Amino acid sequence: MNTELIQINENNIDAAALAALQRAGTILKNGGLVAFPTETVYGLGGDALNPKSSMKIYSAKGRPSDNPLIVHVADMESIEKIVKKLPEAAYKLAEVLWPGPLTMIMEKSQVVPYETTGGLETVAIRMPSNKIAAELIRQSGGYIAAPSANLSGRPSPTEAKYCIEDLDGRVDMIIDGGQVGIGLESTIIDLTSDTPMILRPGYVTQKMLSDILGDVSIDKTILSADSGVKPKAPGMKYRHYAPKGDLTIVEGEPDKVTAYINEKILEHSKNGERTGVIATDETRDKYRADVVKCAGSREDEEEIARNLFSILRQFDDEDVKCMYSEAFDDTGLGQAIMNRLLKAAGHKVVRV
Ligand code: TXA
Ligand code: MG
Repeated sequence: MNTELIQINENNIDAAALAALQRAGTILKNGGLVAFPTETVYGLGGDALNPKSSMKIYSAKGRPSDNPLIVHVADMESIEKIVKKLPEAAYKLAEVLWPGPLTMIMEKSQVVPYETTGGLETVAIRMPSNKIAAELIRQSGGYIAAPSANLSGRPSPTEAKYCIEDLDGRVDMIIDGGQVGIGLESTIIDLTSDTPMILRPGYVTQKMLSDILGDVSIDKTILSADSGVKPKAPGMKYRHYAPKGDLTIVEGEPDKVTAYINEKILEHSKNGERTGVIATDETRDKYRADVVKCAGSREDEEEIARNLFSILRQFDDEDVKCMYSEAFDDTGLGQAIMNRLLKAAGHKVVRV
């Protein structure tokens, strides 16, 4: 398949951009696939109400088909058709947090094919704030199923070049809308249980959600090591974002962390193994690894979130065998950062 690449500036959707998005919408209506930017990560879109499109998405990503897709919409009215009932909580959350990086799980209506929901009776719904995404949804008929636009198991793409790396030749079109703003996938909240439950942490934090809804719980499997308990979001059980090298997270007092990692680096170097470190502005000059990548300042968690996936991808190109990362606070946005890091490390953590 020949993949067409187009560029659109989110802040200047002119007539030419609109025409391009209309063409992209037609591709989707005809059952094709289009990768596009959202504020969180790039998505791999297909018509959510067309079972064949969803099957194509799974095969383009190499993703198991029991792992449901998120349906992206551009307005509240569209949701009524795809759910049994719009819960009160959804209105409350939408008023404050949509469009934005939040996905809500509700009971699906029969128009949503099981191919899209991985066989579940529930559907995940998100209204992205990225203007290119919103216009594409309108042009495509209103419902785009879109997982992150990476090959299954790789970090989610934060720039179009990473979509090209993974999906060139596998999709009809890739829309380059520049680097995304957030860099981690949306927060997922399940509204079908008595107490709303966070199934995946993201930019929207537990505090932001409970300020609106009151009691909000969090799926216990999210931050703990694999305990054999099944997470409620089917996708959370898969090893994800796994870099080619062996990644270990080191937590403890900053000085001890640096000392421990340097000690390990020395051992690996003696064995002729190439080493890498995910550091922060505060520590980057202290490491003696072959490759040191800085995620940003500890004072700016948003910067760290934005850089994390790109850094994990860059390490794959560096042919690093053993990697270490500093740990981050697991509150607020740090909870999402640590969740993704833990998955990348297969939950390998050393406390010093
Ligand atoms: O930010 C995002 O959410 C991005 C952009 C493209 O919107 N999308 C994204 O999709 O991260 P994906 O497919 O990579 O992750 C969707 C997650 C998976 O873990 C999946 O199992 C879960 O959502 N999920 C989808 N539908 C669900 C449902 N009905 N019940 C529980 N979990 C669901
Ligand atoms: Mg994904």
